[in-house]
Amino acid sequence: DLSESTSNRDYDENLNSFDPGTLENSKLTKFCIFCGLVVSLASFQFGYKMSELNNPKDAIINCGKSQDPLNAKLIAGYTSALPKCLPMSETYFGVATSIFAIGGLIGSLASGPFVSKYGRKKTLMFNSTLFFIGSVFETFATKPIMLVLGRFISGIGSGVGIVVAPMYLTEIAPMRYRGLLNLFNQMNIVFGIFVAQVLGYVFGTVNHWRLVLGFGILASLINGVTMLMVVESPRHFFNLSDFRSAENILIKLRGTSDVSEELKGWMVGHRNSSVAQTNNADTGVNNSRNGSSSNNEYSGEQYIDEIGQTEPKITLFSIFRMKKYYHSLILVATLQIGQQFSGINTVFFYSNTIFSKMFSQNMSSILTLMIGLVNVIFTLIAVFIVDRIPRRKLLFTSMIMMFLSLGLQTVSMFAKINALSVISLFMIIVSFAPGYGPLPFLISTEVFDSQAIAAGNSFSLGANWIGTFILGVSFLSMNESLGNYTFIVFMFFLVVFGVFYYFYLPETKNKTFGEVSEEFVF
Ligand code: GLC
Repeated sequence: DLSESTSNRDYDENLNSFDPGTLENSKLTKFCIFCGLVVSLASFQFGYKMSELNNPKDAIINCGKSQDPLNAKLIAGYTSALPKCLPMSETYFGVATSIFAIGGLIGSLASGPFVSKYGRKKTLMFNSTLFFIGSVFETFATKPIMLVLGRFISGIGSGVGIVVAPMYLTEIAPMRYRGLLNLFNQMNIVFGIFVAQVLGYVFGTVNHWRLVLGFGILASLINGVTMLMVVESPRHFFNLSDFRSAENILIKLRGTSDVSEELKGWMVGHRNSSVAQTNNADTGVNNSRNGSSSNNEYSGEQYIDEIGQTEPKITLFSIFRMKKYYHSLILVATLQIGQQFSGINTVFFYSNTIFSKMFSQNMSSILTLMIGLVNVIFTLIAVFIVDRIPRRKLLFTSMIMMFLSLGLQTVSMFAKINALSVISLFMIIVSFAPGYGPLPFLISTEVFDSQAIAAGNSFSLGANWIGTFILGVSFLSMNESLGNYTFIVFMFFLVVFGVFYYFYLPETKNKTFGEVSEEFVF
């Protein structure tokens, strides 16, 4: 294609005069924010699906046996072609809950090749149909197995969504606003959790539980339709060496016709990492500095050759053979597993159980809702502060505060001071939400170059699912055998992972992959 190669050559002409400082000047436009919000609807659905079954559980599995006169009346007045509930054992219901994580793991691990081949936008559009089908199965289930199947499909959709959304957000953001935009992901996860808690509280009754699941259908439709209005990530076209399309999209996203500096920045970044990769292959040593030093002798033709050769080949399998990414892979796995082993989800999964030991059922449901609300509020705060504070500082502050809150929780459990226990549960959330919550997702998109970001994030989110799963299945028995000492285990993990990050987590704020990778040691 003649026009394409001409345009490629244009971009290449002034490559060596590139000044990375100019990247700081890109503006955050309303359209860019709009695209970010639309794409993070995938994250919303993940959060929603994660919590949708918590409240309606008894209504779903127990309807005929309810002794509650109000319920009995509701059941008597029930008219529908669908069975009023899906009687099943606790264990069977446990399968319906946890099969979601298995679908999620599969979706996350499988998403990489789709994203690289079809792009972020098409993958997410297809994914909204997965959410749709999953939600339809759940909502109109006539047998428990249909609920299980629906949850499995929704899980796959969530797994794909939670890989692609953060990636897209980082990719479309001007460097200076990368944190802000990427945080739309976590913001929507926690908002999804909260909406599920509220709808579950209001509609989680024998008569209305299908509405809670049916909300998933509505969300998937909105997701599918609005996705038509966003642009593909310019990085996708850039990776395919289609610089013309990448430029056109960047022009829309930045609201200015001159985006050549930003594109040049990508090219320099890509070129450096390609050279570093070649060097690594030769010497077996990570050496991105050498990459930068050979900039000047680099010709455009050579670059275009290489970009064509190296692009879409990094997969979840091949990335493990590339030394260049060892450090990043270890980092994202420890960030995600560490996040889960801080015990955060025990608060979400079991807050109701913990509260109901101290308060009436109604009071504990309201406190659980407040936990969700506080989570939303403090994540929102993070959206506004994340690009002002170095990532490392934000992370360590969050982890230290979590450590102290878990300590307080332990003390209050031993001393049997209920009020203190409630306060410390809230403090755990307040400490987690602005730091350890969103940062693993954000940093995972910052420690890979654009060729490896798909495979790298699949792996990262795979680790998150595994961590969530391990914690979910082990918490209850751990709590049984350790009692009041349980939270000390989480404190221990905070220290272990904290020390690891202290030594091996490079600062990623306002840095390109090339700059970040200079600090890699593995
Ligand atoms: C993060 C975690 C997720 C948790 C949520 C709570 O997204 O990955 O497991 O439920 O934060 O805010």
